[in-house]
Amino acid sequence: MTEHRIAVLFSLLSIATLGLTVAAIHQANTPPWKPYQNRFYALAADREQDDAASRALRNSQLEIKQILLPGLQRVDRCTTCHLGVDDPTLAGVPHPFRFHADLEPHRSARFGCTICHGGQGLATEKMAAHGPVQNWLEPRLPKRYLRASCGRCHHEGAIPGAPEMQHARRIVGSRGCLGCHRLKGFGNTIGPDLSNEARHERSPEWLEQHFRDPRSVTPTSPMPDFKFSQREIEALTFYLLSLTTQPMAPYYLSVPMLPTAEQGRTLFAEASCISCHSIQGVGSSEGPDLHGVTQRRSARWLERIGHREFCEGMPTFTFAPRTARALVSFLAVATKKDARAILEERIPTLPPDDALTDAGRRTTLHFGCVGCHGEGLNGGTPNPNSQGGEVPALIHLADDYTRGEVAAIIRRGKTPPLEDPKKAAPPLYMPTWRNILADEDIDRIIAYAWSLLPEDTEAW
Ligand code: HEC
Ligand code: HEC
Ligand code: HEC
Ligand code: HEC
Ligand code: HEC
Ligand code: HEC
Repeated sequence: MTEHRIAVLFSLLSIATLGLTVAAIHQANTPPWKPYQNRFYALAADREQDDAASRALRNSQLEIKQILLPGLQRVDRCTTCHLGVDDPTLAGVPHPFRFHADLEPHRSARFGCTICHGGQGLATEKMAAHGPVQNWLEPRLPKRYLRASCGRCHHEGAIPGAPEMQHARRIVGSRGCLGCHRLKGFGNTIGPDLSNEARHERSPEWLEQHFRDPRSVTPTSPMPDFKFSQREIEALTFYLLSLTTQPMAPYYLSVPMLPTAEQGRTLFAEASCISCHSIQGVGSSEGPDLHGVTQRRSARWLERIGHREFCEGMPTFTFAPRTARALVSFLAVATKKDARAILEERIPTLPPDDALTDAGRRTTLHFGCVGCHGEGLNGGTPNPNSQGGEVPALIHLADDYTRGEVAAIIRRGKTPPLEDPKKAAPPLYMPTWRNILADEDIDRIIAYAWSLLPEDTEAW
């Protein structure tokens, strides 16, 4: 009796094992992408009017599709399932067969998918392709950060279709990051070079948390807690995700975006050129009127605007050649109507007398003094074991020093004396600016610092 039961159990087990084996063999022969291709060709066949063509579609060879991208050092197989990306008639169908709107001119055959989306290009299984996959170096970018990838190739200027990029770049340029970090060859070396940040493969979540409170992820970080708003946190995260150290073939970086007058106008407004210049008499008279300057000067001469020695009396701008070209395109067509509009957009509108101190204020943003000396140069950045424990404010400079002495400190830099000689040196020191700032930059900064002296003190 028991023997009989064991025999039955045994044969049942054998059948189950056989079933499992058959299933496994079937699955091995039906890789996860095959059903998608079957469905895709069935869909295409249904839409085909011609019978022979429809039959041919139904009998299509199922195969892994791959896009070889030696210039981007990757192989993308996403189109194994995403079969309709290039077919505009498939705009209405569900994913993964839907047409990819707005991809032009980034043809899929030339760009693949992962350079923008991230994800595991070689994978042919949905979860593996989309992630998250442990230890995969290039996680798929979530939708809200997807457009950060545009900045990997479009290094400058406004990117049509990615307005977030402009905002993100502006914040990095105005919050003093370069006071401590290098970025694309510019800035100081107290913190790590942000150009290499992509090597750390920080996730969007890590970056957000780091900007929310640097010491919650890097306990010893001397990076100030900037009290960023959520919007700023996302903009900075967006910016950092746009950085890449991946080598790319020149084609991908040869973005032939024409530097338009429209872009130039935005730059002209953002760089506040109007605080020193006028156009047809509208604006400030600190510098020359720029109306007709493209007739007075050659385009080649004007395009040097991003060079340090462009013009005595001009602040140093670090514009790349294409940016300078956009500015020149604007100058060629600029009228007093533009100047008036730019002045009106400015909040607050400055009287021309304040142009110099405003230029000084912007210089402290551009070179990152505010990163250490605080917003409005009000101090408050912790600097353990320095005397006073903080980076000093610069609003009382006029009480303690002559302008000449301040210029000398800025040029030379300064290492803070230790509060307790037995403890580690303070992490933040005053860098040497001799080779970075031009004399005019220093004069402007000093004019600005002097203007900060509270009114009642000045009366003394
Ligand atoms: C095995 C098939 C398959 C592969 C391979 C595949 N996908 Fe998908 N993908 C899908 C399906 C199915 C959907 C529809 C939504 C879903 O089911 O998750 C989808 C949706 C998406 C979406 C829409 C947003 C979302 O998350 O739902 C994006 C973006 C995407 N895929 C990108 C990629 C990229 C990039 C690759 C290559 C690295 C890739 N896919 C490879 C099957 C695939
Ligand atoms: C030039 C960058 C770029 C390339 C290359 C690119 N995409 Fe996209 N993709 C985008 C952007 C931007 C969106 C729009 C996201 C949105 O709607 O906010 C998008 C949207 C999508 C969506 C729809 C997402 C959704 O949530 O509805 C899918 C699916 C997708 N892409 C898959 C692919 C596949 C597959 C490839 C490769 C053939 C590819 N993409 C190549 C930038 C790119
Ligand atoms: C891998 C590099 C790369 C990435 C990533 C990339 N682009 Fe491009 N982009 C190019 C190149 C190269 C061209 C020129 C293509 C051509 O004409 O052959 C271009 C062209 C363009 C153009 C057309 C410019 C013109 O004047 O014709 C726009 C707009 C554009 N890109 C926007 C975007 C947006 C938005 C994103 C992010 C969703 C993005 N790009 C991501 C390399 C890239
Ligand atoms: C007062 C100096 C200072 C300023 C200003 C500053 N940082 Fe930092 N930051 C640092 C230092 C130092 C570290 C390295 C901390 C460590 O790893 O011990 C750091 C770390 C970082 C990291 C993390 C690097 C990593 O992956 O570990 C990022 C990202 C970063 N900073 C971005 C920024 C940005 C963006 C700004 C401008 C909003 C900024 N920092 C302003 C000093 C500064
Ligand atoms: C990496 C942080 C850092 C950056 C960036 C930085 N400073 Fe400083 N700075 C310091 C520290 C720390 C001191 C205090 C040195 C000391 O205690 O002697 C200081 C001191 C000074 C002093 C002397 C103040 C006094 O009361 O003795 C001046 C002036 C000054 N900085 C100007 C600037 C200007 C202008 C910039 C931008 C071009 C700048 N700093 C950027 C860290 C920084
Ligand atoms: C802080 C004041 C200041 C700011 C800001 C400023 N400039 Fe100037 N710029 C000057 C001065 C002063 C001169 C004249 C120098 C001279 O006469 O040698 C000048 C000269 C020029 C010239 C040459 C004019 C000619 O007729 O030779 C051009 C072009 C110019 N600036 C463009 C710009 C642009 C574009 C911006 C914004 C990106 C800008 N400037 C911002 C002060 C400024």
